[in-house]
Amino acid sequence: MTQEEKLKKASSVFSPAAPIETRDLFFGRIEQFQKLNEAINERGMHSVIYGDRGVGKTSLANIASLVYKGVTVSKVTCNRTEDFKSIWQKALNKVSFNLNSKKIGFTAKSTPKTIQLDLFLPEKETIDSKDIESVLSNLDNKLLFIFDEFDSITNTDVKTRMADTIKLLSDNMPNITILIVGIALDVNELIGHHPSVERCLLQIYTPRMSNSELGEIIDGGLAQIGIKINSPQRKKIIEFSTGFPSFTHLLCKHAAIHCLQSNKSMIDKDDLDFAIDKALENSAQSIKNAYQIATLSSKSETLFSEVLFALASSEVDQFGFSSKRDILDSLFNLSGKNYTSQRINYYINDLCSESRGKVIEKIGEKNNVRFRFRNPMIKSFILMKMSSNKSNKK
Ligand SMILES: Nc1ncnc2c1ncn2[C@@H]1O[C@H](COP(=O)(O)OP(=O)(O)OP(=O)(O)O)[C@@H](O)[C@H]1O
Ligand SMILES: [Mg+2]
Repeated sequence: MTQEEKLKKASSVFSPAAPIETRDLFFGRIEQFQKLNEAINERGMHSVIYGDRGVGKTSLANIASLVYKGVTVSKVTCNRTEDFKSIWQKALNKVSFNLNSKKIGFTAKSTPKTIQLDLFLPEKETIDSKDIESVLSNLDNKLLFIFDEFDSITNTDVKTRMADTIKLLSDNMPNITILIVGIALDVNELIGHHPSVERCLLQIYTPRMSNSELGEIIDGGLAQIGIKINSPQRKKIIEFSTGFPSFTHLLCKHAAIHCLQSNKSMIDKDDLDFAIDKALENSAQSIKNAYQIATLSSKSETLFSEVLFALASSEVDQFGFSSKRDILDSLFNLSGKNYTSQRINYYINDLCSESRGKVIEKIGEKNNVRFRFRNPMIKSFILMKMSSNKSNKK
């Protein structure tokens, strides 16, 4: 590969803002992938992929749609304004039916011999599960319908109709699989509570990525560009990502470009420092604003940033919470100063309040209060900010 080709490759291999579309760039998620496989291969089974924002749900659904041979896939990205009829219209429009062979396929436009399936929908304004069943009846092919960003649908009626459709298709049309994808902490939040549907709905939770999965993204991506990374910087990228693959992509992309532009073949501290500044600059505006609101002060001697830095580098329990003791210890490690618990209380309480955008959330009572960042992505931002401050001081 020429230098120019490598630079181009660095920007395509690492895509912080776009879901993965090809198998060679998809890493980890073995357990989730196996479950999805089960759902698609088991007759009458449907599935739902749910989890936090930005953990890789769409990427998982995209790869699922690539690997199943002989399955026609139709993927729809839902939005707030849609109703049950419009999401199915979009989904069925992507599937064409061959009038001669009575087979279906995936085509962008219809030809004289083919017709898009949405044309079989009744004209009436609202439709229900039975109408979908009737459009899909008499089809022998295996079909996978993916409804991404289903969380943007707030209308409970749409959710109920979708649950009814899943149940009906499960009972009567075992070749069809519906995959619902969206941000949620539990499945009920995404599609509502429907006990009769639970048995035919395989739930796939996508947690934040593990350190070893993030490591695979780094190593697999860099191998495709033909460069390496030294071990301390690799560790830092994993630490700063806090389980979110988009930060891994963002840091790797800029570090790789900087490394190549400096005619090197190994990413070092210089490249990562550059990438961190770029990542801070390119972070979502909402994250930058949240940090600004949390730390804004007219006085010079405040500890808002310090307390946020301390929380970001504190020990955490399995739910990501830290105790006040953990925060004090980490504050001591960072500054060498012993602050009184009372002084720190003031800052922590303020950071939990509306006036500071509730950047920190608190659970528990009295001696057992614990804290964490309300938006987990802010932790990554703060860890990068700390690193950037440190290298700029030198
Ligand atoms: N398995 C994976 N391997 C490599 N990169 C991944 C993987 N999963 C996700 N990514 C990367 O992580 C970022 C977020 O992925 P994706 O858009 O799929 O997440 P999401 O959960 O659908 O996000 P949202 O909640 O915003 O819809 C993208 O940059 C994507 O390229
Ligand atoms: Mg998504």
